[in-house]
Amino acid sequence: MTNSRIHNRRNLLKWLGSSPLFLSGAGSLVASELPKDPMIWNPGMDLSQFYFIKDPSDAINVFDFEILAYKNVPVAHFGFMVSGIDDEVTLRENRQAFLKYQLLPRRMRNVSQIDMSINLFGRKWPSPLIIAPTGGNRAYNPMGEIAVAQAAKNGNFLNILSNAASSSYEDVVVAREGDVWFQLYATEDFNVAKQVVQRVQKAGCPVLEITTDLIATRNLETFARFRRADTRVCSNCHIDGPGSFRDRPNYDNIDVSKAKGMQDTRMTWDFIKKIRDVTQMKIVLKGILTEQDARLCLKYGVDGIHVSNHGGRAEDNMRGSLECLPDVVKVAKGKVPILFDSGVRRGTDVFKAVALGADAVCIGRPYLWGLGAFGQPGVEKVMEIIRYELFAIMQQMGTTSLKDINMKYLVKTTGAQSGVKEL
Ligand code: FNR
Repeated sequence: MTNSRIHNRRNLLKWLGSSPLFLSGAGSLVASELPKDPMIWNPGMDLSQFYFIKDPSDAINVFDFEILAYKNVPVAHFGFMVSGIDDEVTLRENRQAFLKYQLLPRRMRNVSQIDMSINLFGRKWPSPLIIAPTGGNRAYNPMGEIAVAQAAKNGNFLNILSNAASSSYEDVVVAREGDVWFQLYATEDFNVAKQVVQRVQKAGCPVLEITTDLIATRNLETFARFRRADTRVCSNCHIDGPGSFRDRPNYDNIDVSKAKGMQDTRMTWDFIKKIRDVTQMKIVLKGILTEQDARLCLKYGVDGIHVSNHGGRAEDNMRGSLECLPDVVKVAKGKVPILFDSGVRRGTDVFKAVALGADAVCIGRPYLWGLGAFGQPGVEKVMEIIRYELFAIMQQMGTTSLKDINMKYLVKTTGAQSGVKEL
């Protein structure tokens, strides 16, 4: 090609790149911007520079679903889903924490067979990925938790159902055609907690996860901004006000008149004993972030620990959840299963969490993005992408099973911690 032809061609490409024909509105042929990780959302953002996938199979990574969920999901509901607390420092730290660790691959190992299976409480699962409990999934798609359960069934993932779900435990078990764990907020009236626990136990629930990290009221600022921008009247659907547990199906036929809310500010470690006295289910505590609390979990006989900062939705100005994992692992590894979440978006994130001692890793917002974007096929594809990324990185790292993955495969780039070699 002559110089002038190259010049003309460059000019044409430049013109096309800035042409409204190419960049106008959702579904541009080219994207001039990629979503930030994490996105800092505001209502009324101009997303015309982004590429919107038309089908789950078009997705390159899980972030493709987030952009589309913004477009599809009602304004206030989307704001609730993506929101963190206050300045969203914890939300960002959750992502930053993964970048503090880098990978050390080993070569020349036969990695033709990869085993991602785990065993939790005597039950084998083909991958360490779990669908984290998130309330009110019908806010993102009319099929809500049923769509999520069907995706969990198709991909054979463990699914933890929130007590704040918009479908009942019984209906979700039918849709999942298998085990579903149940997550509980204590509620102010122990009698309510007891009845809910006994209800799900009767329906075959093997494991009860108790969330410990949401006690106070919280300042979900992004949600507040989106809610202000939503012209619909909340009380048309939320009869008892947004966020109330009274209209949640898991509380149907249970007398909740003595409980003001789902949280119990008086909850102490005695709660474990009280719950033990009314159920035979295994008990996992969610929201544990320190060595001291991990010790107390063992002292009070919990069966599993879930390291999580609620995806930056409980407190601001925290360490990334991944940074807390080694403190819990130091105390509890090998004694009880350790679950991990908050900020997991990539197979490499899962790899790092497993290397630091997690036995299983929960996916939160990404599957909600999938749900908001496409319903059940979206959830399925999100989980599949992360699973496939994990498979690929395990091959690359020369680790054929999860038990092979340990801290020898990580270097920490800043701040020494937990025996991981510092660069
Ligand atoms: C949650 N999470 C949550 N946790 C819980 O124990 N009970 C619940 O009802 C909910 N509900 C809920 C709703 C929404 C919209 C979100 C985003 C999260 C927290 C969830 O289980 C998990 O800890 C976080 O989602 C993990 O953070 P990332 O990976 O989503 O950033």
